[in-house]
Parts: sequence; structure tokens; C-alpha cells
Amino acid sequence: MSINEEMNKRRTFAIISHPDAGKTTLTEKLLVFGNLIRSAGTVKGKKSGKFATSDWMEIEKQRGISVTSSVMNFPYRDYQVNILDTPGHEDFSEDTYRTLTAVDSVVMIIDATKGIEAQTLKLFKVCKMRGIPIFTFINKLDREGREPFELMEEIEEVLDIETYPMTWPAGMGKRFLGVFDRHHEQFISYSGNEEETYIPYSHLEKSEHQELVEHPTYKETLEELMLLDEAGDQFSMEKVMRGEQTPVFFGSALAPFGVEGFFDTFIDMAPAPAPRRSTEGIVSPDDAEFSGFIFKIQANMNPQHRDRVAFVRICSGKFERGMNVTLGRTGKTFKLAQSQQFVASSRGTIDEAYAGDIIGIYDPNVYRIGDTILTGKTNFEYDELPQFPPEEFKKVTAKNVMKSKQFKKGIEQLVQEGAIQLFKRYRFEDYILGAVGQLQYDVFEYRMKNEYNVEVELQPLGERIPRWLKEEQVNESLFDERNMLVQDREGSPLVLFKNDFSLRWFQDKNPDIELIDLFEVNQYDQSY
Ligand code: G4P
Repeated sequence: MSINEEMNKRRTFAIISHPDAGKTTLTEKLLVFGNLIRSAGTVKGKKSGKFATSDWMEIEKQRGISVTSSVMNFPYRDYQVNILDTPGHEDFSEDTYRTLTAVDSVVMIIDATKGIEAQTLKLFKVCKMRGIPIFTFINKLDREGREPFELMEEIEEVLDIETYPMTWPAGMGKRFLGVFDRHHEQFISYSGNEEETYIPYSHLEKSEHQELVEHPTYKETLEELMLLDEAGDQFSMEKVMRGEQTPVFFGSALAPFGVEGFFDTFIDMAPAPAPRRSTEGIVSPDDAEFSGFIFKIQANMNPQHRDRVAFVRICSGKFERGMNVTLGRTGKTFKLAQSQQFVASSRGTIDEAYAGDIIGIYDPNVYRIGDTILTGKTNFEYDELPQFPPEEFKKVTAKNVMKSKQFKKGIEQLVQEGAIQLFKRYRFEDYILGAVGQLQYDVFEYRMKNEYNVEVELQPLGERIPRWLKEEQVNESLFDERNMLVQDREGSPLVLFKNDFSLRWFQDKNPDIELIDLFEVNQYDQSY
């Protein structure tokens, strides 16, 4: 098969949601479709104990199967599916955001009883700023939830994206009859067990469906459908591909209901790997030369095994084990001897892979997050990964002042690796760390102690709202402990606002000062 055919089969996506919306349950069902596990059940006991592992490792424990924590890969119909994990709960970190730079599309799960929740919103913003196509699955229809129109309105208003319901539910909870599949013009009927019956619209007239079509819930839903047809947005594949419209599906991951139909439609519509921007122009995924970038580095927490794995998203060409590659940043060439692909059933050695695939390569401490590796005569680098705004800030000091040399070295290296972000206060020597989630602090503390032999003291500054400033607009007298003026690693000034109120108050008093939200500026259009 040619490189072009191989890459066109790839569907590389992440599932984003707020904890408890049903990501694990849905993922399990997809694994069943991929024949990776025979049957799926509810993952029990998740609420007990601390989450030191990702949800998928939790599946691994519960179901006795071996799933890696970062990526799953399996064939489905004519496709090769790569699902990347976006850890939630206490595993939420910058890595979660960075994972979204390595996917071609995203499935967003929303709990019908809750609507848009905090973590969904954060992850969604990253997708939006990168123009990633987003497919929505509204889950838990087997329960009484919020009205579908209300949910559509919330998605449109809170997320600022058009919706196009591909399916539309007839009732929910105890009244749930099934969904109208607008895309395939059929009614998918729900019988309360795992059976799904597909009835083409043209067959609904038949006498055997009389009970269904005369049901008051069904009739009500027909009216809603008419309203949707008349007043709703038109479906636009172009808008979907630009991340401006989201196709919406309704169902229940647990029942399961509507999952297979959703996955089939999604997989047909979702984009194959797209061209990417580099310092040498646009690189096509079917280019003969291999290239990829590193979006995550996982250090082994076991001090006996200090090896690290770098996760590479392949962007073009064909990867072959043992091939020589160049590191774009340094121009140095070396052999990729140890490589792994992450198949749900095992962490096997990989011999070949194509654009869209994710491989793990052994990192002898040379890689940085965002690095490009490639073959061919022309050396280039892919666009830098965006800097994501941290939320939790802590002042860090070494417990033992005698260790300041190792302290600085450790921080410098961990920051460079992308484990955590570093800020410095104007005119002070204070080191301030910024992270997206608590896990990053736990990892930082642990690695400082184990790898640099430095015990650190972390003094929380609490959740803050970071807003960047233009250098020429910095006026130090305007800031204090509440609204702290700091510099990032590049020396760019930013303010850590105490809360939303302080931010608005400041903005009102100083309307001329432009405050920049990183989520708003990192616009990155993948669809050139
Ligand atoms: P997550 O990975 O997104 O955190 O969610 P997960 O799949 O673990 O699901 C969270 C809970 O919601 C689970 O309940 C799961 O069974 C339930 N759930 C998922 N999909 C559906 C659905 O379609 N309908 C209904 N009714 N429930 C669903 P749990 O682990 O048993 O714990 P608990 O929350 O019930 O205590």
C-alpha cells in the first residue's frame, strides 16, 4: 500500500470531556468495536482512592487488559484508529493540552444532565484555537436530562460554535424511544436492552411501526425536527473541518445506544492527517520523507530506570525501525533503534508507521517537547507548540539554601522539558511556578528530590488568571501582591490576577492597557 493510501486510513483523535461524563465508558465500547476486548462493563470503584494513574490505566486494572496510558491503536473497518488519552481528574496537566496538538479531530462528550462543564470548556478552547474539527456526543440519554434544544443553545453560546444535530432524541430517561438519524434518514429505536433497530424513514409508515409513530413523544419530536429543519443551521462539511460547526449525536455510552452509529459516521467524516506548517513551508502527510514532532515526554518515575519515552506524532512519510533521523533543532543525526507503538493489547515494538500514527521513542535525554525529527536533505522544524496559560501558581524555594546550584539546574531542566512553567517577579529573585493541574507539582517535587537531590518548598499563590501585556504598557506602580507583575521564560511581562473581579476592576481603571489571554491569541489554522 502506498504512503498516501496508508495515511488516508488514519483517524487520529482525542476524546475530551469533564470527569464522569462517560469518557471511560465510551472508550471501552470503542475497544469492543475494535475487537480489543470482548465485553465492556461499567468501570467500578473509580471514586474510591486517589487517582495517581490515568483513566485508561484504571480500565487496565479493572478489566485485566493491558492498555497504555497514552494512546490506543486499532484497526476498525478500513481505518486505522489512534485514540489519544486526555487524562482528567487529578491527572489534568499541560500534557493534556499538548496532546491536542497531535490529533486531527476531537470527540467531545457532554453529560446530558449537566451540559458544558469546566474541564470540557478548557479543552474545547484549545481545540478552537487550533481549528480542530469537533464532534459532539451527548451522553446519558437513558437518564432524564436537560432539554436537547437547551443543550444546543448552551453549546452555541458558551462555546461559540454552530451545532448541527446529526441525530435527535425522541424523549429521554424512561420516555426514551430512540433517535432520529437525520444524516442517514432513519429512526434508530431503543428497546431498553442492547438491541438497536434501524428503521428507514420510508418504512415508518408500515403497520408494524404504528405503535411507535403514534406515541405522543414521537409526535412531539417530529415537531421539533421540523423546527430544526426550518430554523436550524445547515450542515456544512467545510465549517466542520474548520472547527466552526460541530455535528452533534445523542446516545448512551452505558446502554449502549447510538454509539456504533455515532462512531461509524464520525470515522467516515473525521479528517485524515492534514498538511502542517513548518519553517520550510507546508509539509504534506504523504511526502516521501519521514517527519514528526514530539508532543510529550514521559520520564520514568522509578529511579532505577531513568529512561524516558518521547511521544512522536508522525506528520509525513513512513517510519521504519532503526532508521536514521535528524533532530531539526540541532541538525544532528542519529538512529532510532528503540521504538514502540502503543497497541491496546500490548506495548509492542513497531517496525513501520505512517502519518497520523503515534510512536514512542527512547529518549537518551536529548529531546525537548516540540522538537521535530525528520529524514531527507532539507532540515526544518514544525511550528512551536503553543504556550498554554497555567492556572495554579506557587512560589518555590529550596529547603536547604546550600543547594541553590542544584535547585536552579533542576528547575531549568524541568522547565525546558515542559514539566512546569517558570515565572519571575519583577525586581524580586522569587521563582514562581505555574501549572495547569496539581499533578504537575507532584511530579516536579518528586523529580527535584530524586533526580537533583533537592527538597523544595512550595508556597501556594492560589488560582490566578494570567494575562500577558505589551512591554511598552508595563507600569510597575499599578501592580502589587494581588495583581502580581511577573515575566515568563522569554522575558515577556504578564500579570497574575487574583480573581475575575480584580481582572475586571483593573480593566475598568486602565482601559488603555491591552490584556492578552493566551487562549485567544494562539490561533492556529490547520486547514490551509
Ligand atoms: P469518565 O471516564 O468521563 O470520568 O466517566 P465514566 O465513563 O467513568 O462514567 C462515569 C459514570 O457515569 C459511571 O458511573 C458510568 O457508569 C456512568 N455512565 C457513563 N455513561 C453513562 C450513560 O450513558 N448512562 C448512564 N446512566 N450512566 C453512564 P459509575 O462508575 O458506576 O459510578 P457512579 O458515578 O454511578 O457512582
